[in-house]
Amino acid sequence: MKNGLAAVILAAGKGTRMKSALPKVLHPICGQPMLYYPLEAAKLAGFTQLKVVIGHQAERVSETFTDEDITWIRQTDQLGTGHALMCAADALCGYSGPLLLHCGDVPLLKPDTLQQLLNYHSQQKATVTVLTAQMPNPQGYGRIIRDGEQILQIVEEKEADEQQRQVTEINAGTYLFDAAFVLSALKGLNKNNAQGEYYLTDVVAAAVAAGEKTRALCVEDPTEVMGINDRCQLAEAEVLMRWKINAELMFGGVSMPDPTTVYIDNGVQIGIDTILHPNVHLHGKTTIGKNCIVETGVVVVDSQIADGTHLKAGSVVEESQLGPGCIIGPMAHLRPGNVLTGNNKIGNFVEMKKSVLGKKSQASHLTYIGDSEVGENVNFGCGTITCNYDGVNKHKTTVEDDVFVGSDCQFVAPVTIGRNSLIAAGSTITKDVPPDSLALSRTEQTNIDGWRLRKQKKS
Ligand code: UD1
Ligand code: CA
Repeated sequence: MKNGLAAVILAAGKGTRMKSALPKVLHPICGQPMLYYPLEAAKLAGFTQLKVVIGHQAERVSETFTDEDITWIRQTDQLGTGHALMCAADALCGYSGPLLLHCGDVPLLKPDTLQQLLNYHSQQKATVTVLTAQMPNPQGYGRIIRDGEQILQIVEEKEADEQQRQVTEINAGTYLFDAAFVLSALKGLNKNNAQGEYYLTDVVAAAVAAGEKTRALCVEDPTEVMGINDRCQLAEAEVLMRWKINAELMFGGVSMPDPTTVYIDNGVQIGIDTILHPNVHLHGKTTIGKNCIVETGVVVVDSQIADGTHLKAGSVVEESQLGPGCIIGPMAHLRPGNVLTGNNKIGNFVEMKKSVLGKKSQASHLTYIGDSEVGENVNFGCGTITCNYDGVNKHKTTVEDDVFVGSDCQFVAPVTIGRNSLIAAGSTITKDVPPDSLALSRTEQTNIDGWRLRKQKKS
């Protein structure tokens, strides 16, 4: 077995109250599956041996975290939180340090709090230390029954009598245990309770009966220990976490006139003096530089946006890299795979996909650029279309530096436009264009004098 502090995280339950085909701990909160947060908190608090108990849709849960160094433990039948820890007994064999038990459905708990719990547990030389909170509405949680500092028992809501239900100090579901004690105490648990489950919480009374010291650390902010059991609580947690993310960014120098409507995933990075207007969504592995303006209705997914870029209203940017000083939108759509080198302008109703734009190249209106490699200083006129798909295969369009494309042109790919050439408005380009030339592919105009008048007279 590895060295270092061990933590067991419970994530085997179905999450019945979620009414979902997705396991509860995989429901996303600010862009990460719920279970990500307890794992991260345990790691940041110094727990290096992570053992996660899974059962309901076990593969689906473990496959979501393949990059993490985790020992996965199977709990085939979910017979309760006490049974879940019993399943981890073999994986803990020989471990003698303090053992953290944390739940996968408590995403808001801070690493600092786990560290405080560990310190308090060691300081007090306790056998069991329970993390607790004062909840204004304790409904659904286990209640803490104390005798001074000693915790006598934890009573579940369903077993609690009228008087116990009045207790507002609740069990957060996070504990530090003396590993050897808890593993032996689990053997004494039974299912004689309202839910017919092995309650981990019964370990507290067992410790008291054995003359052991039990303690509780009460968190200051009860929202930190909120357990997610249904979708209303999921939404509440999302709101709290979103506020935390936005507040951190604002303290770091990012402006948001209305932060309650800005949706930023955990891990998104934003530089100072960038302003995010209402109804902005920034998702996944996104970074935004300094001095950017992100207007209302912008959605950015897995993209890197350099300094001084202006994303105008209603634009969508996916899996793309934007160099400094770009102006995008309003209503532009950058689909996956674009690289905009810098100082590019992509205007109204322009769509791009898998294309590279050299410095200062621009498409200001109503244009589709797909599977293209475009040099520097290229201007696409209004209504340019790269015809990249022949119904079977995708083909590439190459446009070299300093090309000027008139309005309403089509490039039937594969095709290469040589540098410094000019494409006349209304042309359909099917052949390569040599550098420095004019390409023109429209039929000459004919004017017929008096034609309209003659027609009108006849009718
Ligand atoms: C539990 C506590 C309660 C506490 C609350 C805090 C018990 C008996 N009760 O209640 O005192 O106030 O958490 O949120 O422990 N799990 C398994 N295997 C199982 C059962 C559950 O892995 O067989 C996992 C669940 O996936 C979940 C966690 O344990 O992540 C807690 O289970 P849950 O059923 O939500 O417990 P609560 O009723 O909330
Ligand atoms: Ca719960």
